[in-house]
Formats: sequence, structure tokens, C-alpha cells
Amino acid sequence: MEHKVRTCVFISGNGSNLESLIKSSNNYRFPTEISLVISNKKNARGIKFAIKYGIAFKYFSSKKMNVFEKKCLIEIKKKKIKLICLAGFMKILSNNFIKSFKYKILNIHPSLLPKYKGLNTHQRVLKNKEKYSGCTVHLVSDKLDSGKIILQKKVMISKNETELSLKKKILKFEHKLYSKSIKSIYK
Ligand code: GRF
Repeated sequence: MEHKVRTCVFISGNGSNLESLIKSSNNYRFPTEISLVISNKKNARGIKFAIKYGIAFKYFSSKKMNVFEKKCLIEIKKKKIKLICLAGFMKILSNNFIKSFKYKILNIHPSLLPKYKGLNTHQRVLKNKEKYSGCTVHLVSDKLDSGKIILQKKVMISKNETELSLKKKILKFEHKLYSKSIKSIYK
């Protein structure tokens, strides 16, 4: 693709979604290129993927969220970023940030939104004896896990499902769903 959408991925942890986005973006027909990775955790395991694939990355402390956001906006402008993908980013971006960034911000959440917003999703799903769970890619709005839904994948819960097995199962689908959602936006 001639003009790929310059994308920044925000992470806080393992970065498996980050890696799958990098892999998809390495295909020249995929609409985005990952131009920057930002972590709010110094030792986030996902940073290793930025290093492995030679992608610029920044760590900014999020102790003071307004300072973190200011630094991000400067860096994002420098790198001409036109899409932000949150991938296991554990902080809530302010309304101000969302408004200041004029382009799309996407998030992936491990549930069938609008059900089970917030943390400890799998634990709550199992406690409620749900038959299905899944994952959702959505636009980020000023309310937590509430923006317009791009795509969802429904996943069946097995009989002896544990929190860990469900997490692993859904994560595999997340990796596919995130790339598919991006494709559907920029087709
Ligand atoms: C994923 O389950 C994602 O849906 C949630 O946090 C997890 C991040 O996993 N927001 P990883 O860091 O991409 O491996």
C-alpha cells in the first residue's frame, strides 16, 4: 500500500496484541504501519516487540496523567500519527486527550461489550455462568469501554473453563479481530 496510516500502539503489559498488529502491518497490503509504541510501564514485556521489529518506542510515566498525555501528544505529532490503537493499555485517557487527537482511537476489550466493561472481565463472566464471552474492538469515547463498536467475536465457554483458559482462548481471537477491524475501517 502506498500510503499506510501511521499508527501508534499504547501498551502497559504483555503486548501480544501489539505483536499481532505489527505482523499484520508488515504485509504491504495492510492499511497501517506501526510507527510508534508508547508504554506507561517501564518494564512492560511488550516493549521487547518494539525492539525486535525495530519500531520507535517511548516510555512515559503515567503517575500524572496530564503530563503523560502532553508528552504523548507531542511525540504523536512529531511522528505524524493518524491512528492510535490501545492494546492492553491500563489507563483511562482524558476527554481532553481524545479531543486533542483529531483522528481515531481504537481499543480492544475482552468481552462482548456492552457487557462486562472494566476490569476482571473473565472472572465476572465465569461467576455469572455465561455460556458465551468474546472480544470487542471499539472506538474510544469519553466513557469507559463505550465507544462505537467496530467488530465483535463471540466465543463459547467450555464446561471446565478457568479464568486462565478463557483468557488464553479469547486472546487468540483478539489478535485476529484487531487486524480485521482495522481493515474494515480503512477498506
Ligand atoms: C487483552 O485481553 C486486551 O483485550 C485487554 O488487555 C489484554 C492485553 O493483552 N485490554 P496483551 O498485552 O495484548 O497481550
